[in-house]
Amino acid sequence: MNNCLITGGAGFIGTNLAQRLIRSGKKVRILDNLSRAGVDKNLIWLQKNFAGQFEFIKEDVRNFGALHDAVRGVDTIFHFASQVAVTTSVADPRTDFEINAGGAFNILEAARLSGNSPAILFTSTNKVYGKMEDMEVVEKNGRYELAKLPQGVDESQPLDFYSPYGCSKGTGDQYMRDYARIYGMKTVVFRMSCIYGYHQFGNEDQGWVAHFILSALFGHPLKIYGDGKQVRDILFVDDLTEAFCRAAENLDQTAGQVFNIGGGTQNSISLLELISILEEISGQKIPVEYFDWRPGDQKVYVSNIARAKRIFHWQPRISREEGIRRLYDWAQKNQNMFK
Ligand SMILES: NC(=O)c1ccc[n+]([C@@H]2O[C@H](COP(=O)([O-])OP(=O)(O)OC[C@H]3O[C@@H](n4cnc5c(N)ncnc54)[C@H](O)[C@@H]3O)[C@@H](O)[C@H]2O)c1
Repeated sequence: MNNCLITGGAGFIGTNLAQRLIRSGKKVRILDNLSRAGVDKNLIWLQKNFAGQFEFIKEDVRNFGALHDAVRGVDTIFHFASQVAVTTSVADPRTDFEINAGGAFNILEAARLSGNSPAILFTSTNKVYGKMEDMEVVEKNGRYELAKLPQGVDESQPLDFYSPYGCSKGTGDQYMRDYARIYGMKTVVFRMSCIYGYHQFGNEDQGWVAHFILSALFGHPLKIYGDGKQVRDILFVDDLTEAFCRAAENLDQTAGQVFNIGGGTQNSISLLELISILEEISGQKIPVEYFDWRPGDQKVYVSNIARAKRIFHWQPRISREEGIRRLYDWAQKNQNMFK
C-alpha cells in the first residue's frame, strides 16, 4: 500500500483514515462530492493540517469517467462514498441505489479496467443480515441479548437485505466478493456495525453514538425509537483505521474475504446505557422522548469479530468508556465544527 484513493474521503471514516495514511507517508487522493452536511469542514481541516500532502477531487461516484481517472496510478482503494442513512434510502430509493450499488459497481469497473490491479476495501454494513427475526432475543438487566449467540453474529449469518439501504449496500458487498472470484481482484469487505469518533457529524438518521454525545454536549433533547434497550457493539474509529491498514497490508490472507467488524461483545451498549454514561460525564440529565421502532431496526446486533482476529490479528483496543470520553472531549474542544 503506497498510493491510496479514498472515495468519501472527506467523510467521518475517510478523514480519519486519510490523516493516518498521510502521517505514515502514503500518497493519498480523496474523491468526495461533499454531499454530507458538515464534511466540507473535514476537508478544510485536512487542508489546514496537511496542506500540499494530499490530492482532492470533487466528484461523484455515479460518474464513471471521474472514477476511471481517479484510480490512475493507485494501488489501494478505500471505497467509502455512500448514501449512509436507512431513513433517506426509504424516502429516495433510486438515489440510494445509484450511489451505493452503482457507485460500488463503478469503482470495481474502474479498478478492473485500470491495469494496476488495485486492492479495494469496501465498507459494507450489518444491515445485510436484515432484522434476524428468527433469532431469539431475551431481555437481561434492562438490555436485549441474542439468546443463542453470546459471542455475536459471525459471517455465516445468512444474508437477508433489509431496507433499500441494506439492498444497495448488500449489492456492493456481493459485487466485491464476486469480482474477487471472477476477475481475481483483491477486494475486502468489512461488514461494520456502529463506528464512532472524531470528525463524525452524527445525526438522528446515522451516527447515533456521535449524535447522542453532541446532544449531551449542546443540551439538546434526544429521541429514542423503540424502548432504548436495543443493543449495538460500538467501535472507536482509531481501531477501525487500524483494521483497514492491517487488512490492506495482509492481502494474501484477506483478499476476497468478508469480515464482520465492530466493537464485539466487550463493547456492546444499549441506548439507555449510553445515555447514563453521558449523564455521568456531562453532569446533566438528558431529556428523552420515545417514538415507535423504525423499519429494519434490529433489537440487538453485536458483531462476532473472531474471524478478523484470527486472519489479520486485529482486535479493538479502545474500550467503550474510553472512546465515549475521547469523543466527548474532542467535540467539546472543537465545538466550532458543529455550528
Ligand atoms: N459510520 C458507521 O457507523 C458505518 C457503519 C456501517 C457502514 N458504514 C459505511 O462506511 C462508509 C463511510 O461512512 P461514514 O460514517 O464515514 O459516512 P459519511 O457520511 O461521513 O461519509 C461518506 C462520504 O461520502 C460522500 N458521498 C456521498 N455520496 C457521494 C457520491 N455520490 N459521490 C462522492 N462522494 C459521496 C459524502 O459527502 C461523505 O463525505 C459508508 O460507506 C457507510 O455506508 C458506516
